[in-house]
Amino acid sequence: ENLRSWIAGMPKAELHVHLEGCLTPSLTRSLAERNRLPLPAALSSLDQTSGYSFHDLTTFLAVYYPNLVVLQTEHDFRDLALAYLTHAHAQNIKHVELFFDPQAHTSRGIPFPTILRGYRTGILAAQRTLGISASLIMCFLRDQSAEYAMATLMEALPFKDSIIGVGLDSDERGNPPSKFAAVFQRASKEGFLLTAHCDIDQPNSIDHIRQVVQEIQVDRIDHGTNVLEDDSLVEILRDKGIGLTCCPVSNSVVTEDFKGREIVDLLRRGVKVTINSDDPAYFRAYANENMEKMATETDVTRKELIQFQRNAFSISWISSWRRNHFL
Ligand code: HPA
Ligand code: ZN
Repeated sequence: ENLRSWIAGMPKAELHVHLEGCLTPSLTRSLAERNRLPLPAALSSLDQTSGYSFHDLTTFLAVYYPNLVVLQTEHDFRDLALAYLTHAHAQNIKHVELFFDPQAHTSRGIPFPTILRGYRTGILAAQRTLGISASLIMCFLRDQSAEYAMATLMEALPFKDSIIGVGLDSDERGNPPSKFAAVFQRASKEGFLLTAHCDIDQPNSIDHIRQVVQEIQVDRIDHGTNVLEDDSLVEILRDKGIGLTCCPVSNSVVTEDFKGREIVDLLRRGVKVTINSDDPAYFRAYANENMEKMATETDVTRKELIQFQRNAFSISWISSWRRNHFL
């Protein structure tokens, strides 16, 4: 059987995708028009065939944040969620846990409830019309203050039945997980599950991974392949069932290495690694394309490709008491 159609037909779960990273150039254009706003700068100079060009996380974020100005109304947030979930459904994704960055919007004057209600309406519409299952994970921007993160957590409390967990994203350099220890502790006390980005391109990555495991006590880690630098930490992840949400195409965009060998190595050592898209509208690769990259550029077997998806369902928060609480 053809590899591509075999991957396309496989039931999948996606655990690492940023809703704001699902804002395609065409949706950006139509939202700008609807809201009578000028096209964001990166978009007006975009080459239609080659797409945006990035060489690291900083240059990516410098396009990602300014593009978000086109998201203004509850309806805009709804449309973004529904557009991604429609694409995910077409790739035979059965369940998604969606990151969102409220501070990327509240910082420019969009009220927290507008964001949350919009995303929630989009998810409910997709669940009803497509049968795809989805939950929201609220991320704190780590390059902003811990006080702003805590204030965001407080704003989320009235909506906590609609949010399954919290995460940590944006620029990691100089922003260790320990900066947010008190925020995560409070989030956990409120019943949120915990995850955090530990990017592959950090000089002190292993320290950050140690912090999220030992100090923050996360349920999962986003990226995190640098754990291979410490065998005892690999064993802790395996024994505690702390999964990693890896993003091969994203890795190849922000660094010169997609970390395929490391991902397969961790899988073979019994760590629950998964394959995800991160920011599919920007990296122009959804779940299937990320699976195809692993299949064609590593020595992973078909059985192991299935194992990535088994891991995803197994480390998903699908059976948490909080799931679908808002329905
Ligand atoms: N890395 C870090 N922060 C992010 C990303 C990412 O790929 N996408 C959105 N926020
Ligand atoms: Zn990410």
